[in-house]
Amino acid sequence: MSGSTVSIRNDAFLRALRREPVPRVPVWLMRQAGRYLPEYAALRARAGSFMALATSPSLATEVTLQPLARFDLDAAILFSDILTVPDAMGLGLTFAEGEGPRFARTAADEQAIARLAVPDLARLRYVFDAVAEIKRSLAGSVPLIGFAGSPFTLACYMIEGGGSADFANARRMAFARPDLLARLVAVNADAVAAYLREQIAAGADAVMLFDTWGGLLPAAEFRRFSLDPMRAVLDRLPRGVPTIVFTRNAGHALPALVDLGASCVGLDWTIDLASARAAHGAHVALQGNLDPVALLTDPVTVARAATAVVRAAGPAPGYVFNLGHGILPATPPEHVFALVEAVHAVHDVTMIDQSATEKA
Ligand code: CP3
Repeated sequence: MSGSTVSIRNDAFLRALRREPVPRVPVWLMRQAGRYLPEYAALRARAGSFMALATSPSLATEVTLQPLARFDLDAAILFSDILTVPDAMGLGLTFAEGEGPRFARTAADEQAIARLAVPDLARLRYVFDAVAEIKRSLAGSVPLIGFAGSPFTLACYMIEGGGSADFANARRMAFARPDLLARLVAVNADAVAAYLREQIAAGADAVMLFDTWGGLLPAAEFRRFSLDPMRAVLDRLPRGVPTIVFTRNAGHALPALVDLGASCVGLDWTIDLASARAAHGAHVALQGNLDPVALLTDPVTVARAATAVVRAAGPAPGYVFNLGHGILPATPPEHVFALVEAVHAVHDVTMIDQSATEKA
């Protein structure tokens, strides 16, 4: 249990996750460390590969802190990847420059899936060491978010052996061999629960589950292979550490996501934030949901779009500003600066309805 809220100077993010009042709307951004930052590209070039960065606790710490040096962000997120877990299970992960992730081996048939087991957490020591080093470097300034992929999203990559436009092989397994997919997500749930518990023990102040591909499944399969395994993970985390779940393209399943029992649900940009807050804001914190392409415009448009999202969220406690998915690599850093400033500036006026004054 971290119990570290008291020692964090800017704890607005953790307060928002607990639906407590905040002095300003907290903001962090999915993929806030990454390729849109020239200093990231430079360090990655020096390190030679993504995995060289991720497996070095000191380099992972440096990358984690890069966006915090530029922008007034209210949380840091561990620099790593969701696919470190299947890598530790022996699948052999690489990221080729300009391409997506690749596994040397898949887990797509009966034999490979039968062989899978929760990895020895010593193989992920570099992640826990990075969490501890980042916590030391943050020195109580802002909270640190740990994360993992959802059991189903990890299964998608493990079955395909890499990225895919539609993850058709993973989806086919839900029909052809539901027993195999059930075994795969069950092993992943055990692995992810152990992995997140260890990140929390190393100092993560909150943890997030990325279910990027759960929204591809039909309703019954979504429940069985995505939602229930996420609940199994959440149920095994220490109480008192805030949790966030994010499923893309699952606006239709928002009530079920709210019922998972996480502290916060992340919304993609297709969801109506004001309606979601009205329906669920009393039960769960919500995070989101500006379309990342809004950042590919100009600083004035970015500020206006960010302000509109904060206004849609409204003044009730339990809101964290974020994008509806990760920052795109083509995003100009100055636009991210404009966004963070705009979110923090809006706070003072969220308590009163400005629309009347604006129209006058
Ligand atoms: O948010 C952060 O700043 C923390 C770091 C982080 C990364 N990946 C770093 C990364 C996090 C939280 C992730 C999660 C992740 N990884 C997800 C879930 C969230 C999402 O985006 O939907 C998924 C599906 C992955 C798998 C993955 N990793 C893909 C498909 C790719 C290649 C395409 C892409 O978007 O970059 C990666 C590589 C990756 N992970 C990079 C970074 C900074 C780029 C690597 C490089 O430098 O080439």
